[in-house]
Amino acid sequence: MTKVLVATEKPFAKEAVDGIKEIVEKAGFTCVLLENYTEKQQLLSAVADVDAIIIRSDIVDKEVVDAAKNLKIVVRAGAGYDNIDLEACTTKGVVAMNTPGQNANAVAELVFGMMIFFARVGFNGKSGTELRGKTFGIHAFGNIGRIVAKIARGFGMIVFAYDPFVSHDIIEKEGVTSLSSIEELYKTCQYVSLHIPATEKTIKSINYKLLSLMPKNAVLVNTARKEVINEDDMLRLMEERKDFAYIADVRPSKAAEFEEKFANRILFTAKKSGAQTEEANINAGLAAANQIVAFISKGDRNFQLNK
Ligand code: 3PG
Repeated sequence: MTKVLVATEKPFAKEAVDGIKEIVEKAGFTCVLLENYTEKQQLLSAVADVDAIIIRSDIVDKEVVDAAKNLKIVVRAGAGYDNIDLEACTTKGVVAMNTPGQNANAVAELVFGMMIFFARVGFNGKSGTELRGKTFGIHAFGNIGRIVAKIARGFGMIVFAYDPFVSHDIIEKEGVTSLSSIEELYKTCQYVSLHIPATEKTIKSINYKLLSLMPKNAVLVNTARKEVINEDDMLRLMEERKDFAYIADVRPSKAAEFEEKFANRILFTAKKSGAQTEEANINAGLAAANQIVAFISKGDRNFQLNK
């Protein structure tokens, strides 16, 4: 019988797990869970006899793919798939998919939750600042960027975006000024929100040169991936510019150094929280389960990443 594993080091909400089980079992498959695991060995053992895997930020590298002898499909319930070794999947004839857009609203809302918390000095009673009238730059106008744009406009921010893969027309239709260069975006905006994936090209691309273009009282908001930041450059810049702040849903590798040196100019979530809402868990988890059923029963390859 077809066996589907849900392997989540950071589990979905119960409602999402129940929904996944229902979809999988209705298709006549078995659903098994590996939640809150702490050792890679637990994942290696759990994948040994499964046909399909649903993951979140869980690492599916060559070792995991090789250990999963019956594996046909792995679905990342979420957007970013830098945690999957696509080459290893392709070599083994395993289909890899993601569920783009399903958790986008949750991430977009967190951007503003963190910005307000920071702008209001953690609600400590001191006077903070408002978002209205401030310049806001969206770095990459994908599923999250588009929702972020709507919310920013609702706050009365002056919204700009840069995305070389999206036409000016599409961006401008959202009431956002589309800029032609990344430098322009960083130069123009007091707040910049990152929505780029971690790829060979983007890793460490947010560097000193770019960040130093940002105007006075700059705030960089990172709900994307820590890898896209050049942390040494960021540390250097924050040392030089006492007006520069860094807000991130992805604790930097050098978090301790940031916390020690710039305690009142940083805000990091304790655990990656962008997609951690019941709604996002249900949207992404159920989409993943449906994609597995559609692939195994009908060969549907929509959302395949390793074509
Ligand atoms: C994503 O790429 O979809 C987000 O970063 C969410 O990741 P998570 O499912 O591990 O919270």
